[in-house]
Amino acid sequence: MTTVFHMNECIRKTKQGIPLTESEIRQLVRGIVPQHENERIPDYQLSAWLMAVCLRGLSDSEAIALTFAMRDSGQVLHWDLDGAIADKHSTGGVGDKTTLILAPIAAACGIYMPKMSGRGLGHTGGTIDKLESIPGFRTDLAPDAFRRQVREIGCAVAMQTGDLAPADKKLYALRDVTETVDSIPLICASIMSKKLATGADHILLDVKVGSGAFMKNNEDAAKLAKLMLRAAKADGKHCTAVLTDMERPLGMNIGNALEVAEAITVLRGDTASELGDFCITLAAETLAAAGMGDKASCREKALCAVESGAALARFAKMIEMQGGNPRVTEDLSLLPESACKRTLHTTSAGWITAMQSEEIGRASVLLGAGRMTKEDGIDPGAGIVLHAKNGDAVAAGSPLLTMYAAKESQLDEAEALLKQAIRITEKQPAPQPLIREIYSTGD
Ligand code: URA
Repeated sequence: MTTVFHMNECIRKTKQGIPLTESEIRQLVRGIVPQHENERIPDYQLSAWLMAVCLRGLSDSEAIALTFAMRDSGQVLHWDLDGAIADKHSTGGVGDKTTLILAPIAAACGIYMPKMSGRGLGHTGGTIDKLESIPGFRTDLAPDAFRRQVREIGCAVAMQTGDLAPADKKLYALRDVTETVDSIPLICASIMSKKLATGADHILLDVKVGSGAFMKNNEDAAKLAKLMLRAAKADGKHCTAVLTDMERPLGMNIGNALEVAEAITVLRGDTASELGDFCITLAAETLAAAGMGDKASCREKALCAVESGAALARFAKMIEMQGGNPRVTEDLSLLPESACKRTLHTTSAGWITAMQSEEIGRASVLLGAGRMTKEDGIDPGAGIVLHAKNGDAVAAGSPLLTMYAAKESQLDEAEALLKQAIRITEKQPAPQPLIREIYSTGD
């Protein structure tokens, strides 16, 4: 039997809703990253199968088998450390700088956090771009340097290497151009194959819900979260999934250096802000999952790590070990800032009822903070600082946000988009909690 024949069978079965066997799924993944040329499955067949999955779905068992086969398509890391190892993943958001805050807090509390991250694409930002806005910071760590840093200070954030779940890299590129990204089993396999390959014992998933996210409603987000928990549990890992609101950006700053500045502000002690409180909650979940106490005492530990300055010191050490200037933690003016800036003001008094995160993300791309294609460059000092947010009362003529860009023409373009993204009404909107739900394999 040839590979092509098998693949036809796989496409037919998935198209008709007939489950694939584990062996078929393993062969399919082997055909994505073949060891021999005659095993290779052509892109047109893979694309047809992806579309069949999008339209018909996969059973949970098939999704988990796909996750495991993709995990095993490359290197699976093993750690020899004397403490709990945690990893965190966000399904992609606007203004999401939680890794920059969570990793040093967790490390200061005695948890190891080796973090592999990616660049931003489209309207969502990426942790690697954010960190690289710190002068000198390097994310292309050699495997030995990455391991050494994790062992010494508990945290490192590096660019994801091609050795980890390479089947996902290939499949994701195909999904991107064949309109097959929005499938719960495919998203689960993509995210969890990479998470399980990094060898952490505890995985924290931040599943974004809302107009700016892959999951547009609570029901789909809960389905995705529960499937990812099942995959983690089947691999013997502890996993927590937090469903968070992405109708609004996270925090007040959007853009690379601007987000680093906001992360430093939280690490300096601003734990009462919505972002600060969110990061403390994530840290408490991580510490509790690692057996460091109940959630209330873990929350205290996380707060203490910030208040004592231990978490900020850990972040400064991480910056130094990765070639950056650690003095940015003391002096935010060392971070880059774009040459042009403009503040938009409200034209009427009222309540901010909408600040659509997707549009805000797209405006930050127009300002130069993000990229639409992988080849685009970015301006590390560009972005948006919000002065008010969803649910806030505003007076007429009060500052709403400030934009930063290299050129005035970029400010003009972003201004037009931002004006459509923000709605102010006379009626106070109902408060929207940032955390909508928390699920855990331990429940
Ligand atoms: N993030 C991923 O890594 N993969 C997906 O499929 C979606 C979001």
